[in-house]
Amino acid sequence: MPAVVVVGAQWGDEAKGKVVDCLAQDADMVVRYGGGSNAGHTVRFDGHEFKLHLVPSGIFRPRVTNIIASGVVVDPQVLVEEIRSLQAQGVAVDNLRISASAHVVMPYHRLLDALEEKQRGSAQIGTTCRGIGPAYADKAARKGIRMADLRQPDRFAEALRRALEEKSRLLKMVYETDCPTFEDIWREYKSYAEILRPMITDTDPLVYHAVKSGQRVVFEGAQGTLLDLDHGTYPYVTSSHPVAGGACVGTGIGPTYIDAVIGVAKAYTTRVGSGAFPTELTNETGNYLRERGREYGTTTGRPRRCGWLDTVVLRYSAQVNGLTAFAMTLLDVLSGLDTVQICRAYRLPNGETIEQFPSDSAVLDRCEPVYEQLPGWKEEIADVRSWEDLPAEAKRYVQRVEELTGTPVAMVSVGPLRTQTFWRHGVSADAPVRSLQALARR
Ligand code: GDP
Ligand code: IMO
Ligand code: MG
Repeated sequence: MPAVVVVGAQWGDEAKGKVVDCLAQDADMVVRYGGGSNAGHTVRFDGHEFKLHLVPSGIFRPRVTNIIASGVVVDPQVLVEEIRSLQAQGVAVDNLRISASAHVVMPYHRLLDALEEKQRGSAQIGTTCRGIGPAYADKAARKGIRMADLRQPDRFAEALRRALEEKSRLLKMVYETDCPTFEDIWREYKSYAEILRPMITDTDPLVYHAVKSGQRVVFEGAQGTLLDLDHGTYPYVTSSHPVAGGACVGTGIGPTYIDAVIGVAKAYTTRVGSGAFPTELTNETGNYLRERGREYGTTTGRPRRCGWLDTVVLRYSAQVNGLTAFAMTLLDVLSGLDTVQICRAYRLPNGETIEQFPSDSAVLDRCEPVYEQLPGWKEEIADVRSWEDLPAEAKRYVQRVEELTGTPVAMVSVGPLRTQTFWRHGVSADAPVRSLQALARR
């Protein structure tokens, strides 16, 4: 059984893009299964830096088929821009396919996202304002517009007219705002449709055929486990299902086809937007992590909130996703600290200690982290290419995470480049997908 899911184990921006790009060398297909242009996945190699929002991170491997599956909400403006920018940099997109069932992000979704945020006042979620919540809301309310509509002018015109009847009244009466006109949207979206039409197809059979015929398929998660609509820190979450289960729903593949789930986790924790963050550091150490890790949003440029690694979060992530291994990224950022801390439990105001991540945000808000202190390491490790060459303290750190989570750390990343990576637990650098599958079976 050939499929591997790559999922964000924290609050997003764990370097899923880098990990998927590394795995893609050993894959036949990479499938984005959820989220939309709220995602920003960075891939760096050979002096290039690419920031992908919708296009899967397998696009740089010419033999890999890249699929934007039905679980994704597609903003055609962003996608067309991204395709053009990739082409301008010499990256071919002939191997890109877009699901006809994927929903389309419309200009009124972006408008509503911003207006709803404003209306929330102090309870703002801190969304990316990319129209993600309103687009998924229309999908759930069964009044969305899909890529299948976009590719057929008559169908799109009818769907757009129907949508605007409601949205223009909603915008006017609730938000006192003008809605873009039919003509404006029609003209703009018609031009996107012309570019995207050849890529829009029924992708479910493509993915099914790939897994059924034994090809190696990587499902690329967006966002992170703690941003999941059901399993994250609601309401400070996104509107999709970043968890590994979302890969099945978002692509039309049954759970029995998935045999490994890789949780990407930073060596510390970051979060963008509002919501509880027990290990957040608002001091010099937090600034140290932000500056060394260049922790500014890929999509919005916002400074990311930074804090110590939280293994309560990682254990929960291992549980919710059925993780078979972690990929630990940005370990190099921790160099230079006298000591490093790992959160192993939470303490409630009544003194009780809990090791299970609480599902109730009101409880999480009151949790204080219980830390273990470990010795830090002074050496820069960006040039380290093997486990053996890591400083002893860094090895101890990684091993302690394995002990506290009960999950092997199979990949370690010490810099943004493809080459700044090494593998553990018998995973081979030349065939990482195959050996991660073998590790999952052990
Ligand atoms: P994603 O959304 O999960 O794909 O992650 P982002 O691309 O938003 O953020 C990860 C950032 O860390 C990007 O700027 C990467 O280039 C960078 N990065 C990835 N791996 C490493 C690493 O091991 N060390 C350092 N210092 N940076 C890394
Ligand atoms: P990648 O794939 C980090 C956060 C937003 C906000 C919340 C809801 O790059 O890891 P939304 O626009 O989705 O309605 O915002 O979710 N968020 C992310 N944070 N990385 C992401 O994606 C994110 N996508 C959404 O900051 O708190
Ligand atoms: Mg990101």
